[in-house]
Parts: sequence; C-alpha cells; structure tokens
Amino acid sequence: MAAREVCYLDVDMRGRRWLLPTAIAVLFPAVLAGWTLTAVSAQEAASPSPSASAVSGDAAKGAQTFGSAGCTSCHGANLEGGVGAKLNPIQKLPGVANPLDPQYLATTIRNGRAPDAGFSAAMPAFGPDKLSDQDLQNVIAYIVGQNKSGAAGLSPVDLARSNVFWVSIGVLAMTLLTWLLTRYNMRWIALRARARREGGGRSA
Ligand code: HEC
Repeated sequence: MAAREVCYLDVDMRGRRWLLPTAIAVLFPAVLAGWTLTAVSAQEAASPSPSASAVSGDAAKGAQTFGSAGCTSCHGANLEGGVGAKLNPIQKLPGVANPLDPQYLATTIRNGRAPDAGFSAAMPAFGPDKLSDQDLQNVIAYIVGQNKSGAAGLSPVDLARSNVFWVSIGVLAMTLLTWLLTRYNMRWIALRARARREGGGRSA
C-alpha cells in the first residue's frame, strides 16, 4: 500500500513538473498585455481623435492648399509648428477639448484665434474669400490624416502596443528556447547513461 502510494506520488510530481513554469510563462505575458491594453484603451479614450464621419476632404489636395494658402509659413512644411501651433501631433490649446475635432478645426481656421500664452502671433482668419469650403475640408482632412498616420513618430499608445508585442514575442521565444534546451539536455543525459552502461564505464 505504502509503496503504491509513493509510486503514485512520484508519477503525479513528474506530470506536474511543467505546470508551474508553463502557467508562469503563459500568465506573465497575458497579464502584462492585458494590463497595458487596459491602460492604452483608457488613454485612447481620452486622447484627441476625429469623429470619424465628419472628415470629408481630400488630404492630398489639402497638403497642397496648406502650402499655397500660406499655412506653412507659420505652421511649418511638415506641420511641425513655428510661429503657429504645432499641428502634428496637434497641440492642445487652452480650453480646447479635442483639437482634432473637425468642427473645431473649421471654426479656428475660418475665424482665427487670438494668441494664447506662448504665441507671439494670432491665428489669422481664413474666410471663404481666401479658402473655399472644399479647400477648408481638404486642409482639415490633411491635418487629421497626418495626426492619425503618426508621421511624426510613434504615439505613446502605439509605443505601448509595440512594447507589449515585442516583450511577448521575447518571452515566448525564451520559453521555447528553454524547452528545447531541456529536451536536448535530457536526451544527452540518457545517451550518456546508455553509452556508459554499454561501454562498461568508458566515458562518452
Ligand atoms: C501668421 C501665422 C499663421 C498663419 C499664416 C496660419 N496660422 Fe494657424 N495658427 C497660428 C497661431 C499663432 C496659432 C495659435 C493660436 C493660439 O495661440 O490660440 C494657430 C493655430 C492654428 C490651429 C489650432 C491648432 C491647435 O493646436 O488647436 C489650426 C488648426 C491652424 N492654426 C490651422 C491653420 C491653417 C490651416 C492655416 C492656413 C490656411 C493657418 N493655420 C495659417 C498662426 C498662423
């Protein structure tokens, strides 16, 4: 009875030896990914985003108009800012809830904006005489599109995503490598033991 019990315990232990490392290897990246994605989605909800339906312009034409209407002289050829606010990633000016809201962009470009602290100039008004409705929509599509494409580098959200991705790949790769090495090692030990048995003490 006692012998059987020991034997049973032994088998049980062998079967479960992989349970804890495997659980850790799976749970760790899962918890990491879940935790970061939660943080990311919380931040995404709070960060500026265009209300999808309202952007109707042609971004490529908008880029041309941005140059020909003189926006580049204050906002830079790549929306990097200068005398005017940085437009990619778009700056959050005081009192503005969502600077990528097409309605806000339209109003600001049409009516202009008095200089906030830190600006030496005002945003001039571009009435329909300077900018047609279509040109206005195109420029808005251009600004929103540039912000979405992340041309100015990874946003914190994208950065967090890529971090989670590569850390998970790394953990999985290391788990696989450890598993392969362990298998190889076991086989090697078995081979050596057999060689020793068969060769009568000759070392392998
Ligand atoms: C004379 C310089 C000047 C020119 C030309 C100019 N801007 Fe501006 N723009 C500014 C300044 C300065 C501000 C920041 C105003 C403030 O402090 O509130 C601004 C703000 C803006 C904002 C709001 C940015 C934000 O972060 O909320 C948008 C959008 C904008 N400009 C678009 C344009 C477009 C499109 C054109 C061309 C049609 C243009 N601007 C031409 C100076 C300029």
